[in-house]
Amino acid sequence: MPSHDVLIVGAGLAGMRAAVAVPSHLNVGIISKVHPVRSHSVAAEGGINAAIRDEDTWESHMYDTVKGSDWLGDQEAIEILCKSAPEDIMALERMGALFSRDPEGRIAQRNFGGLGFPRTCYVADRTGHALVHLLYEQLLKRAAKVYEEWYVTSLIVEEGQCCGVVVMNLFTGELSTIGAKSVIMATGGYGRVYLISTNGLINTGDGMAMAYRAGVPLQDMEFVQFHPTTLKSTGILITEGARGEGGYLFNSRGERFMSTYAPSAMELASRDVVSRAEYEEIMAGRGVDGCVMLDLRHLGKEKIMEKLPQIWELSLTYAGVDPIEAPIPVTPGVHYSMGGIPTNIQCETPLPGLYAAGECACVSIHGANRLGGNALMETIVYGRRAGEFASAYAEKAKTISYSDQAFKQQQARIAALMSRKEGERIGALREAIGTIMAEHFGISRTKERMEAGLEKLAAIRKRIPNIVLQDHSKVFNLELVDALQLQSIFELAEVTAAGATVREESRGAHSRPDFPNRNDADWMKHTLAYREESGPRLDYKPVNITKIPPAERKY
Ligand code: FUM
Repeated sequence: MPSHDVLIVGAGLAGMRAAVAVPSHLNVGIISKVHPVRSHSVAAEGGINAAIRDEDTWESHMYDTVKGSDWLGDQEAIEILCKSAPEDIMALERMGALFSRDPEGRIAQRNFGGLGFPRTCYVADRTGHALVHLLYEQLLKRAAKVYEEWYVTSLIVEEGQCCGVVVMNLFTGELSTIGAKSVIMATGGYGRVYLISTNGLINTGDGMAMAYRAGVPLQDMEFVQFHPTTLKSTGILITEGARGEGGYLFNSRGERFMSTYAPSAMELASRDVVSRAEYEEIMAGRGVDGCVMLDLRHLGKEKIMEKLPQIWELSLTYAGVDPIEAPIPVTPGVHYSMGGIPTNIQCETPLPGLYAAGECACVSIHGANRLGGNALMETIVYGRRAGEFASAYAEKAKTISYSDQAFKQQQARIAALMSRKEGERIGALREAIGTIMAEHFGISRTKERMEAGLEKLAAIRKRIPNIVLQDHSKVFNLELVDALQLQSIFELAEVTAAGATVREESRGAHSRPDFPNRNDADWMKHTLAYREESGPRLDYKPVNITKIPPAERKY
């Protein structure tokens, strides 16, 4: 069986940045269920935050991030991000990143929500696309072993350490194991737990679920970000860069309603604030067909085509609206998971040998609400750090010769799915879970609504073991992959719902009309959900506050 010093699961920005950081004398492998350039990071649009101007400071970036997190972010981790960001941007530039430029030829920066300074570097509105291709080139240069279109089904844990994975080669359907001295989880988010999301169909939270099944708790999963501008009915992301470049939001009366909710920052308040404002407007009957309108017309054709060409194309193609001529109908949509696999600042999870970085991890930079542009920066800074620290661990670790127990468990799990003759189809269950999450654990969460959602999820729990497949072939059996993903999605839905129902306050993206205020005395703490046979068990741990004491958040 193959084995690596460092093995990375997930080949988006965090995974590839980690691989590139592994020193050349170590043997690195990277596994992805899709070709690396099809990873969801490729869909990131608006930019990446770093204080690279003389007039800007990492301290100001840190303050904005802590405030944006509604004081649930861990400040030591945030400080590292903000201090490292400028150098990490320059490293990307040296690798060949083609950042957009300002008239002086410097890396251009735009405004994004919740920022006190326009510090979002970008490549028009295709920043993720540019960076994913850049890092893929670096991955090839680094000569990492790439297992593309391989699907990891489980971690291997022996002697209390993570020492490899069980994996299926999708091309052959063959199940095997790959050993490693250290494993980095970089599998991205789980937006597809919800029915409609900006996330790619691949964002099913496999890495989070795998860690959870291996005994690692999941942290702060109740904090799910709704992006303020997703295209009507589709969930397609309309970048915050559109508002950063000067776009307005208005309601059915033609009012720029953000003046009521965030009179200073207006459309560039933090995402939770803007999404909630849109929700309130729509609920109060001031929406337009269930949407609000994003107006870019005053920016003019030249600026739209230079800075937001993809938005122009997406809007025209999927909504039939030319943003040069007419406002775009938008609505808040599920976009990002602030929670994930808990790590310390060395990217170590509670399971020795297992590291995590990027959206699947919770270090925690984003706390209760992430600022736009900080996710990409986290993938780069903490992806690099995960590669460095996992390598240092691998240098000292001994190779564990693991048994075939994990392999046999996964073989039995797959055999059970393949052999069942009757039962329920995956699509119906997946739609049911997505609908429950959207209706009961959305932007506005009351006790009654969430408790009803928990009951519905409990009913789904009984149906999950009855999944039946129609495809029993081996080669690219994507129905089998869907079945395994469904098991992840369900457990993550349960964790999200459990944490949300218990948290009796409003903080960042977790908004409760029945507990409308933030409650630092009782709830300035991270949620930890541990897996038990009957469902998640919750515990809590303190938030790390170093420099910026809690204060009221106003925009
Ligand atoms: O709006 C956007 O372009 C998304 C950026 C982000 O989530 O950081």
